[in-house]
Amino acid sequence: MLLGVNIDHCATLRQARYRHLSPNEFPYIEPDLLQLTLLCEKAGADGITAHLREDARHIQAIDIQRLQENISTRLNLEMACTDEMCRFALEIKPKSVCLVPENREEITTEGGLDATRQIDRVRKVTAKMNAAGIETSLFIDPEPRQIEIAAKIDAPCIELHTGAFANNYHIPSTMRAELSKLQIAARLGNELGLKVNAGHGINYINIVEILEIPHLHELNIGHSIMSRAMINGIEEAVQTMRQLMNPSGN
Ligand code: PXP
Repeated sequence: MLLGVNIDHCATLRQARYRHLSPNEFPYIEPDLLQLTLLCEKAGADGITAHLREDARHIQAIDIQRLQENISTRLNLEMACTDEMCRFALEIKPKSVCLVPENREEITTEGGLDATRQIDRVRKVTAKMNAAGIETSLFIDPEPRQIEIAAKIDAPCIELHTGAFANNYHIPSTMRAELSKLQIAARLGNELGLKVNAGHGINYINIVEILEIPHLHELNIGHSIMSRAMINGIEEAVQTMRQLMNPSGN
């Protein structure tokens, strides 16, 4: 299973101090997102994920440009399903985009994209990305109707939202019920020919149950890796997660 490291929280830390400066305006700006990213790659990250929000509260457009120009793995741009973001993605040409819902008040992405409510919009963006050779993934809750729509609109990939599972990890019966939804969703996605990824709230403990979900191609993990990196360093954090994801070897 592949590991996409979400680096948004590194930018959150930077913006907490240097919000008033552009990342390339000031030479000592820290933490340096690109430096962290290159260390993630050195430690075995298979891809780098970053979310350019409408309010650019953490990742800035210039970060995405620098990442795209300098990384040696691949860039997965998380973005809202808007015309503006679509134009930006077509200009930058990341390897893939992940369409996420966006709510200005939320601290991080709270729920999956409700593809059932905006089929035409999601279909239009997906078609534009497909035509440009950019793989589109829909970040959706593990609900059969969302997965069926993803297949119907020719999205090649889905990312199953593991937040409900992770948030209920301390309540075993609910956690198991959420895990079961993820298993069913992953099977359905695979049957419908979709590449199945997963993300949100995955950490060094709940990865054990995540491994019970079939057909997973890649996990996108941010918060837990960045948190561990503060104590153990980013290379150990990435290496350890990748090993836990692939207990019988890579
Ligand atoms: N996948 C998507 C689509 C996300 O928006 C995020 C960040 O909220 C993640 C994965 C990573 O989540 P976390 O930081 O909880 O690991």
